[in-house]
Amino acid sequence: MWGSGRTAARAVGTVSVEEALGPMPRSGTPRAERGSDMKITVIGAGKYGSTTVQRLAEMGIASEVVMTDIIEGLPQGLALDMMQSRSIEGFETRIVGTNTYEDTAGTDVCIVTAGLPRKPGMSRMDLLDVNSKIIRDVAERFCPGSPGAVVIVVTNPLDEMTHLFREVSGFRHDRVIGQAGMLDTARFKHFVGEELGVSPIEVEAMTLGSHGDTMVPVPSLVRVSGKPLTELADAETIERVTKRTRDGGAEIVGLLKTGSAYYAPSSAAAAMARAVLTDSKEMMPVCAWLTGQYGIDGVYLGVPARLGRVGVAEVVELPLAESELVALRAAAEAVRSKCADLGKLGG
Ligand SMILES: NC(=O)c1ccc[n+]([C@@H]2O[C@H](COP(=O)([O-])OP(=O)(O)OC[C@H]3O[C@@H](n4cnc5c(N)ncnc54)[C@H](O)[C@@H]3O)[C@@H](O)[C@H]2O)c1
Repeated sequence: MWGSGRTAARAVGTVSVEEALGPMPRSGTPRAERGSDMKITVIGAGKYGSTTVQRLAEMGIASEVVMTDIIEGLPQGLALDMMQSRSIEGFETRIVGTNTYEDTAGTDVCIVTAGLPRKPGMSRMDLLDVNSKIIRDVAERFCPGSPGAVVIVVTNPLDEMTHLFREVSGFRHDRVIGQAGMLDTARFKHFVGEELGVSPIEVEAMTLGSHGDTMVPVPSLVRVSGKPLTELADAETIERVTKRTRDGGAEIVGLLKTGSAYYAPSSAAAAMARAVLTDSKEMMPVCAWLTGQYGIDGVYLGVPARLGRVGVAEVVELPLAESELVALRAAAEAVRSKCADLGKLGG
């Protein structure tokens, strides 16, 4: 409930840095905690979507994972292939490939990956134009059959597409969430770990803000085996790691030449879906609707939040350095103005 979000806004400082930034949840949820009759839908059977389906099926948190796409045969072929791995991998989740929304009815959690990744020569407005049409189409077709679903949007540009899906769906804001912060935080942990020669599991970190240029990695909160990063690395090193995190997606796109990352992104989306389905209330950096937290109101932005069956159960306010708070508020205004571009496109 967004009322509880406001309660959280008053609870500044009640969450310790250690609790806030503890190790990210990993796969391997005990069987006893797994839902047996849950249904997940993944819309878009491209690289991100299909990898997410495989991860979710192997987690065993739902009885059925439905994968849909506009390309005939693609989700069906991928589903058949994945189903044939069940006896080797030892999971029982049914994977259904389809081109119709009838098969998605009654979904508990939906992950929206439909849409183009940015291609060389494509402006941000071009991507916004193409993907806003896709998101509108997906929301209009999916939502009537699954009015109780929690929706996790990953399509880029992430903040705007999450905003648009919520607008078209009419769902409560806490039931439409974007995935970016989990991925950006995992990248931050990876780069800190590589720089200091430690496992990323030893690194506690958080990135906030927007998915893109106004991402806010938060060095003041980084701990390595419990020690502040500021005691382990000089300012130049911290700046290098922060910049590489902010440019993390572009670095992979540059290497791949076509398409964008999907292994770490699919881990991020699947972990969010698991937190929702198991009602874990784990704190994760996600794109959530703000109602006054951090002094920001009425915009989707990357912040720490507890996820459960309601979607966002609580937005958590961490103690930030003044400069980090300023950067977060600047990111909020950048997202707000980008969402206004949607109106110019009629999206
Ligand atoms: N938020 C993040 O952290 C993050 C990370 C990586 C990628 N992404 C984004 O995720 C999206 C998907 O990436 P990808 O690598 O899977 O791309 P992809 O091109 O491999 O797959 C996209 C799929 O969407 C399908 N599609 C298009 N229109 C559709 C519609 N109306 N209904 C159903 N399916 C439709 C396409 O047929 C295609 O199979 C992109 O927008 C990308 O930028 C986000």
